[in-house]
Formats: sequence, C-alpha cells, structure tokens
Amino acid sequence: MKTTVLFGLTALLLSFSVCAQEMETNEDERKVNAYVLPELLRTNSGKLVRNVRDWERVRRPEILAAFEDYIFGKTPVRKLPPRIAVTSVDQKALNGKAIRKQITVFFSQKDKPKIDILLYLPAGTRKPFPVFLALNFEGNHSVCADSGITISQRWMRYDKVRGIENHYATAASRGSRAERWPVEEILQRGYGLATVYQGDVELDRPERSPDDIHAMFRKPGPGDWGGIAAWSWGLSRVMDYLVTDTQVDAKKVAVLGHSRLGKAALWAGALDKRFAMVISNNSGEGGASLYRRNFGETIADLTRAVPYWFCENFSEFSGHENDLPVDAHELIALMAPRPVYVASAVEDTWADPRGEFLSLYHASPAYHLYGLRGLESNRQPDVGQNAGAGVLGYHLRKGDHELTRIDWQYFLNFADRYFKKKM
Ligand code: GCU
Repeated sequence: MKTTVLFGLTALLLSFSVCAQEMETNEDERKVNAYVLPELLRTNSGKLVRNVRDWERVRRPEILAAFEDYIFGKTPVRKLPPRIAVTSVDQKALNGKAIRKQITVFFSQKDKPKIDILLYLPAGTRKPFPVFLALNFEGNHSVCADSGITISQRWMRYDKVRGIENHYATAASRGSRAERWPVEEILQRGYGLATVYQGDVELDRPERSPDDIHAMFRKPGPGDWGGIAAWSWGLSRVMDYLVTDTQVDAKKVAVLGHSRLGKAALWAGALDKRFAMVISNNSGEGGASLYRRNFGETIADLTRAVPYWFCENFSEFSGHENDLPVDAHELIALMAPRPVYVASAVEDTWADPRGEFLSLYHASPAYHLYGLRGLESNRQPDVGQNAGAGVLGYHLRKGDHELTRIDWQYFLNFADRYFKKKM
C-alpha cells in the first residue's frame, strides 16, 4: 500500500516537473525549435491562391474566421447607433499650436457605456488632416499635460503609480504618460492624434463591469469575444466618429497600439478596412509575433495570466501552438494591400522581436498578389536600422518594452510615405 502511494506521489511530482519544463518560457535563440507555418496562400480545401480575387473571396475570409473562432472571438455584428456629443472644442490649445476636441460617443440612451475621444489637430488651417488613432492605458489626460483635458473617472488597472490612487486617476496623473505621445511633434508633422482610454470600452480585468461594452451584447460561449476584440471594436467606433469630422482625412487614418493595445490595433485593422494603415508597437504574442516560434511569451503564458483578452477556445492551444490553424503572419496578411508597420525593441524579449519581424516577412506573399513589395529579406535589420522600402515596414529599437519618441519618428516617416505622397 505504502509503495503504491509513494509511487503515485513520485509520478505526480515527475509529471509536474515535466510540465514546468514544457511550460518554461524560452529566451534562447539556440533553443528555438524548427516549425512549419500554415501556408498563407493555400485554401482550406488545398487550392493554391494565385490572384487577388481568390485571396479576397476565399482565403482571406477563411483566415479571418480562424482568428475569430480560435483566438480573439467573434465580434458582434449588431450595430449600436451611436449618439455623439462634442463636449469641448479649443481652437487655441497647446499655446495656439493645436485644435483640441473632446467628443463623447454613447451607445444607448443611457449615459453608459460611453467612450471619450480626445482629438488633437494642427491649428491654423481647416484642411482635413491624416490622423493617428490609438487607445491609451491610463486615460486621455495622461497623454498630455494640457489642463483642458477631462480627467478619466473610470477604474484603472494600475494603482499607486503615476498619480493613480485606489485605481482612480487624480489630477497628479495629468501628462503622466506624455513621453509616449509626442503630441507637438505629431502636429508639427501635419498629423492629428485621436485617443481613447481603453477602459472606456472595456476594463482591463477579468471581472466585467456593467459599463463595459460587453454588457451591451449577451452571447457567452467558447467563441465569444474577449477584451482585445472589444478594444478593437472601440477603435472602429472612434473611426465612425472620425469619418464625420470634416477636419479629418478619414481615408488617411493609421490605427496604432502598444503592447496589448498593439494586438488590438492589428485586430482592428483586420476587421475594419477603413483603417488605411496599421502600426503595431511591441505587440508580441497574440499580436505580431509568430506563435509557432517558441521564444518569449507563449499561449500558455497568455491564457494563464490574461485569459479574458481572448476567446475561451484559445486556451486549447496552450502548449499546442502547432495545432493552431493560423499564425501571426496571417494576421498581418489580412491588412493587404494596406501598409503595415511593426516595431520591436531589443530588450523586449518577452514579445519576441525576431518573431515580430518574421511574421511581416511571411505575410509578404499576400502583398505580392497586389503587385506590391512586402519585406523581401528574412534578415532582421540591425538595431536602429529600418527595413522595408515596401508596404511592410519594420524597425528594431534599442531599449525595452515601451512606446517612445524614437518609435514615433519611424511611424511618422512611414506615414509620410503613403499619406503625404505627391500625386
Ligand atoms: C504583458 C503580456 C503581454 C502584453 C503586455 C502589455 O506583458 O504578457 O502579452 O503585450 O503585458 O500589454 O504590456
């Protein structure tokens, strides 16, 4: 009897240690296993895609459906007619350099859920401007120390940092994230900036709030949308407003996001073709980096720490990346023929910079169908060098997981290439 118990215990301990080994997150390039990516241009029925027609009619919808079914969950199609209220306009914000507008979008007759949009546009002329659209992590007021911005009253994930107390923002958090948002430089370069606090759409926590956008749609199930899809949905709702603003050139809106919000920006770009450009900054696993490359964060890490970002089905692929019907290069390819830019940082190994780069490279065949250049070399550029003279752009910055002024300079240059083209 005793022996059986002992044997059972040893087996249990052994299986734990095997499990721990399997789960261990690899950050050693030499330990990256060989992998085979799903074929981008082969349909589920085995046919090779050779033209835009087959791509758009067959293969693209197949890939989109797989990302919905297994990763992000299905975004409801029901439209919520928005009620838009422009709450303030300052024609002389930032010492006369900017027009600042604040707009609230309501989704029912009640006053919640709602999203508060902060929009800066260059002052001085009334012509429509291209705009960068991004969600932010800590409230619109954290983006810039401009005292005219309304302080967010929603719960924040972070606490006791950057002027946040008991999970709510205080006046001390004005401009606390300004280093991520070089507003004056963006304006000076002839672009606008639109931003919304991610928590206006959905709080970043496992427990849902009645004010989250999820509460407006009831369809729980394994394929139900997670937080990332909800944030992406929010980005499209901002776009619904931007197309109505005559000072915005809605054909030139670049959707951008850092980290988890970079994942959301990519999914927003995939679902909503009105985004003319998509920019992912350090989006990592669940974003631009290849799932099958076992480097940095894994599906197991994600589904353990933040399962509510994804649909329930996603956890089935924890430890089984090779069974996932799609990989991240196909998420990028969903944007074709629109320009996509991916940014990595050397020390951001958790996000797998090389995996982020390679997904762009492997997305290129979809762009070739349109006669466009993607990334033509699988050699990752050196630090500080950007790759790609084509529609797919990439840089590797030195430093850590962050959205910096340097990243913005690359984004602005890339945007100039498409949005400031002389006709
Ligand atoms: C965590 C998470 C990442 C995510 C990041 C972020 O590190 O594991 O997947 O990108 O948070 O959003 O900052």
